[in-house]
Amino acid sequence: MAAALLKTIDRAVKSSFSIRTSVFPPARFGRSVARCLSTTPAKASVQTTTPMPEADGFPGVHTHQDLYDFSLREPDTFWGTLAKSRIQWIKSFDRVSDCDMSAGKIEWFLGGQLNVSVNTLDRHVQKMPDKVALIWERDEPGTEVRITYRELLAMTCQLANTLRSHGVKKGDRVCIYMPNSPIAVAAMQACARIGAPHSVVFAGFSADALASRIQDANCETVITTDQAVRGGKVIELKKTVDDAVANCPMVKRVLVAQRTGKEVPMKHNLDFSLEEDMCRQSTECTPEIMDSEDPLFMLYTSGSTGKPKGILHTQAGYLLYATMTSKFAFDIREDDIFSCVADIGWITGHSYVVYGPLSNGATTVLFESIPTYPNPGRYWEMVERLKINQFYLAPTAVRLLLKFDESWVKKYDRSTLRKLGCVGEPLNVEAGDWYSQVVGEGRCDLVDTWWQTETGGIMITPRPSQPGAEILHGPMRPFFGIEPVLFNDEPGPDQGKELTGKDVSGALCVRKPWPGIARTIFGDHERYLDTYFRPYPGTYFSGDGAHRDHKGYYHITGRMDDVINISGHRIGTAEIEDAMDEHHDVAETAVIGTPHEVKGEVPYAFVILKEGVRRDEEDIAKELKDLVRKTIAAYAVPDTILITPGLPKTRSGKIMRRILRKISTDKEEELGDVSTLAEPSVVDAIVQSHKAYK
Ligand code: PRX
Repeated sequence: MAAALLKTIDRAVKSSFSIRTSVFPPARFGRSVARCLSTTPAKASVQTTTPMPEADGFPGVHTHQDLYDFSLREPDTFWGTLAKSRIQWIKSFDRVSDCDMSAGKIEWFLGGQLNVSVNTLDRHVQKMPDKVALIWERDEPGTEVRITYRELLAMTCQLANTLRSHGVKKGDRVCIYMPNSPIAVAAMQACARIGAPHSVVFAGFSADALASRIQDANCETVITTDQAVRGGKVIELKKTVDDAVANCPMVKRVLVAQRTGKEVPMKHNLDFSLEEDMCRQSTECTPEIMDSEDPLFMLYTSGSTGKPKGILHTQAGYLLYATMTSKFAFDIREDDIFSCVADIGWITGHSYVVYGPLSNGATTVLFESIPTYPNPGRYWEMVERLKINQFYLAPTAVRLLLKFDESWVKKYDRSTLRKLGCVGEPLNVEAGDWYSQVVGEGRCDLVDTWWQTETGGIMITPRPSQPGAEILHGPMRPFFGIEPVLFNDEPGPDQGKELTGKDVSGALCVRKPWPGIARTIFGDHERYLDTYFRPYPGTYFSGDGAHRDHKGYYHITGRMDDVINISGHRIGTAEIEDAMDEHHDVAETAVIGTPHEVKGEVPYAFVILKEGVRRDEEDIAKELKDLVRKTIAAYAVPDTILITPGLPKTRSGKIMRRILRKISTDKEEELGDVSTLAEPSVVDAIVQSHKAYK
């Protein structure tokens, strides 16, 4: 049956690489040039129904629930059909999947060959060359730049040819350290074009953090810009790259694009002007033929222990998953203007600023600024000016903006908005209501999406339902093909057992493989298996806890490990501890996440000084903050640094972070029995220090 179905709807289009495109316009890019347990129904929301055209070919599928059931019952037919119709193949695949979750082995679309950049660019240039692909919403409002698919393809080809001219070849990792800009998108697509996996590093990371990512991936090439501009401030990006590269002997070339045009020191035979090189190159570039399972990109993210891990995604599976989730979670229609205000340095930027919207042929907004620049009406003024249909952010931005007067929202016309999405952290009830009612005027769908760097795309979200169906806040329901399972994680005889039925909470895992799942951690496959596949055998373990309510809807309860979430940015507390432990006066540190009104969580550090250190504590705290800023990034700097005489440890030496969390939130009456600690008296001392600090 599968074969017959595939045949009926096989609409694979022949690939066409030789498309004439306009010359790259350098001047444009040079000088002139974001925990909901709410069950509050959204008041007057309109749910849209967006059936998948392919669903017509599936037997017995009439509703979205039918389609979801079918996707779990016959995953190969489901995903295979979509892959045939939604991806332009150079050579079609022979086998849909070969996965074994118990061994962490994931392979999709075996035998298939494709080029991802052809899918995001060339096939749209064939049909609609002058359609706007990117709207670069630059820092200064009203100075946006529109880039058509034809222009983006030309720029991509010139950049790809530049990379090739420098000797970059298939399989070489390329580090991209750039602000949101068309040339950064072109850099990602150029890497995809020549089969060189990109490693985009968020341009807010410090030189040390950048260096460690360059070293781990062994990148010989770095692409950056002279400076970045954000919220009216200039950021010296090239200088940060210089500092990082000084510790990266493997780097052979740094390609520098212009954002502000400021003269920056250029080292002979190491630094090259990207635009100058690109102008010498053709606007056509033969795409590399890639196997479905060749690496597409890696992206570093934090775990609970150890250094950040390079999560690796591959070609066809990631592309299909980003395409399908963008289209169906957000109902992207032909003339829509889709706006995800994430930075390309995070997975949200990869999947929902770049790959997802572009593969759907949509117009995607690249936001360079911050939500409060030049004033708190920035987002909504932009919605009015650009006529945005979908808006996707992190809840922290909502919590920040709702503090300002509603007039900042209401004075702008938001009638074009249909979907309001959020991701990265729990959407608290107040923020969810404000977003839905004030911004969305109660008529937009609220799309809270749960997913991770490792999942490649959206996993749990409200999905289109039948008209009139009940609408709730919260991530809620699994996407097609996704089967969440909960396991008991409470110590005791039932630990590790699956929790069936409704109204249960436990460790959130996924049973069936899906095309967008990461394939490995670069250079450390054992860590991949240990982290994701060994804790609950036969499933993928997310690291998050979840609650399945009485209706079967899912609500995320937060991380189960020592990863914290600051304004939607994930960081392991161990990374912050490692940075502070480098200080010469510090003996030991413990960092926990503590609730924050706007950022969701902030790091709170408990620090023990070495014997005999008698320095001013404020000076030490300042030095420690600088150290974290220098080693990681500004967002990871602890809000509170408390110098304490000791830490609460078990007799085996394990720090009881649970106790520190209670102290940080003034809940010392909930500490419980501390008599089993190695030194129970230390708890009182920490409580006193905490109170004195406040
Ligand atoms: O804890 C979950 C939280 O963000 C983590 C993933 O972070 P990262 O890999 O950086 O990707 C963020 C963007 C996809 C998750 O393990 N998280 C993500 N979405 C939600 C969420 N927590 C609550 N609700 C969400 N919608």
